[in-house]
Amino acid sequence: MDLYLKNRRVFITGSSRGIGLATAECFLSEGAVVILNGRDKQRLEKITFELSCRYGDRVSYIAADVLSNEGIHEISKQLEEQYHGLDVFIGNIGNGKPEQDNVLSVSEWRRFYDINVLGNVQIMNKIHKLLKTGTNPSVVLVSSVIAREAANAPVGYAAAKSAVRVLSKYLSRIWINDGIRVNCVLPGNVYFEGGRWNELRNMDIEGTMHYISTNVPMKRFGEPMEIANAIAFLASDKASFITGAEICVDGGQLSAM
Ligand SMILES: NC(=O)c1ccc[n+]([C@@H]2O[C@H](COP(=O)([O-])OP(=O)(O)OC[C@H]3O[C@@H](n4cnc5c(N)ncnc54)[C@H](OP(=O)(O)O)[C@@H]3O)[C@@H](O)[C@H]2O)c1
Repeated sequence: MDLYLKNRRVFITGSSRGIGLATAECFLSEGAVVILNGRDKQRLEKITFELSCRYGDRVSYIAADVLSNEGIHEISKQLEEQYHGLDVFIGNIGNGKPEQDNVLSVSEWRRFYDINVLGNVQIMNKIHKLLKTGTNPSVVLVSSVIAREAANAPVGYAAAKSAVRVLSKYLSRIWINDGIRVNCVLPGNVYFEGGRWNELRNMDIEGTMHYISTNVPMKRFGEPMEIANAIAFLASDKASFITGAEICVDGGQLSAM
């Protein structure tokens, strides 16, 4: 399906692997201009080279830490000076890996909020002015099914991902005054080499597969591209009457009506 994304400038946080990387590929295959992001410059260089062999010079990167003021400054500066604006922002960075056993550890809650929520808040604050002048601009934030379904995840992570949904909904009602649509995708359990589920499966293959087969009606993991497809659709003109919405891509895991 042609999503009418040709030449749209798309910036994706945390796109050097997993869901972010698949999303980059999805936009590139639709003819968009994609700017990758991550902290590891060497990895970004390698990925950019590999993608450019398939998609040409429409792919580049900004190596920057989205959680630091310098990183945010660098991103907005480069988007303004090198790309002269932005059409699509994908807020993908996030992390749910626990560092402590204590579900009520304040430092753990802070860490989850920083990486899942405040990174998005800070960056959107900076790039709002760029999006306002973009072509049919839109934002997609990546939350998680864990924001709506009590399951096996740290409570601080679930709360932070709920805040991402709230952020998306509220912002959609304000930013539509500038013509910017804001939506949210809630992935289920997504498996890829080097990802969190790969790590958990290596630690306990039987327990992990039992968890998936008893909690997910489709009895399997999702693939990064299955999440990317929903993100690209919401960001595209095919979703022109959709804002403040969310799509759960979880193999049926969400049981709430
Ligand atoms: N995987 C799942 O099963 C699943 C399920 C539900 C929701 N989600 C959500 O989906 C999103 C993507 O998850 P994923 O599993 O694909 O991610 P991931 O494997 O954790 O990859 C994270 C990406 O973010 C980058 N990154 C991390 N910290 C950063 C920072 N401070 N500044 C800039 N870049 C940073 C990483 O590169 P560097 O290390 O080089 O910085 C990497 O490219 C997250 O929001 C996650 O919470 C994932």
